[in-house]
Amino acid sequence: MKERIEELEALFEKALSEATDAAALENLRVEYLGKKGHVAELMKGLRDAQDKKAAGQLINVFKCGVESRIEEATEAMKQAQINARIRNAKKYNPTLAREREFGSYHPITLATREVEDVFISMGFTIENYNEIVDDYQCFEALNIPKHHPARDMQDTYYLDNGQLLKTHTSAAQNYIMKKYGAPLRAIFPGRCFRNESTDACHENTFFQMEGMMIDENISISNLIYFMKTMLSEVFKRDVKVRLRPGFFPFVEPGFELDINCEICGGEGCPSCKNSGWLELCPCGMIHPNVLREGGIDTEKYTGFAFGLGLTRLAMMKYGVKDIRDFNSGNLKSLSQFKSI
Ligand code: DAH
Repeated sequence: MKERIEELEALFEKALSEATDAAALENLRVEYLGKKGHVAELMKGLRDAQDKKAAGQLINVFKCGVESRIEEATEAMKQAQINARIRNAKKYNPTLAREREFGSYHPITLATREVEDVFISMGFTIENYNEIVDDYQCFEALNIPKHHPARDMQDTYYLDNGQLLKTHTSAAQNYIMKKYGAPLRAIFPGRCFRNESTDACHENTFFQMEGMMIDENISISNLIYFMKTMLSEVFKRDVKVRLRPGFFPFVEPGFELDINCEICGGEGCPSCKNSGWLELCPCGMIHPNVLREGGIDTEKYTGFAFGLGLTRLAMMKYGVKDIRDFNSGNLKSLSQFKSI
């Protein structure tokens, strides 16, 4: 028995050293440990052994040896495969980084910068403001007391602590007036939110740019002049606009400044609710209550304010038919702005 085991051990070691893949190892396992394998055959021979106990121990040691040697070999083979994969993997090449594709500015960013440039050239400063505001800033300070029907148009998302996501950039008016006092020329772009069902021309998240000019003797003529200059600079051509009365509690008088729909040329399409016109820039003379709330002396100063729909402007400027494209994260449509 002892000789047979030694003979099998030698054969096993030789075969193991020649096994180069997992299949060969499996064959070896079956050959030695399988039902009809060498270990089973040794067990059968146990019947005739003189010292059964000693022979049984020898077989067991041999069996365990074979098992662990196969296990070790399997592990070593796996490791060798991993090492080979690492060796053969493409090496990092820093010069390839230059071939990477670069992103592009979002069309809203492009439109914002363009309008900012126009207003900077007219002496306005650019201000930043929070997206989370409180009821006072968004409504009360703008002459919209609690239960005022104007609030119906501006439902939004409320936080547990009573604060809310601002529905319009006008929410910063009070803060800016208190920060600078009069005279004042400022624009403040920002993201706004409304609890609104979406369609081609409505989104629950959109951008506006608010502007305010407060000084002595500011009148509607100043307002019209600044709006016209801004639009002709941004569109770089004459655009058809119309001014009509509009109601906003924080301006008196208030106007709607509409722009001829650039998508359909004024014939009517889903982007302009089939009217041929798009409300682009509501505006007006700042209500004395709002000025007073901002600490401005209404005997001395008057001012105008406007709330430019930046998202709408970008739609018109770049011919984007559906407002939802802007927040879609769709690289196919957004990457078209690379060259602009
Ligand atoms: N905040 C208004 C809105 O989002 C728009 C607006 C109207 C802003 C008139 C103004 C303004 O500054 O004078 O509906």
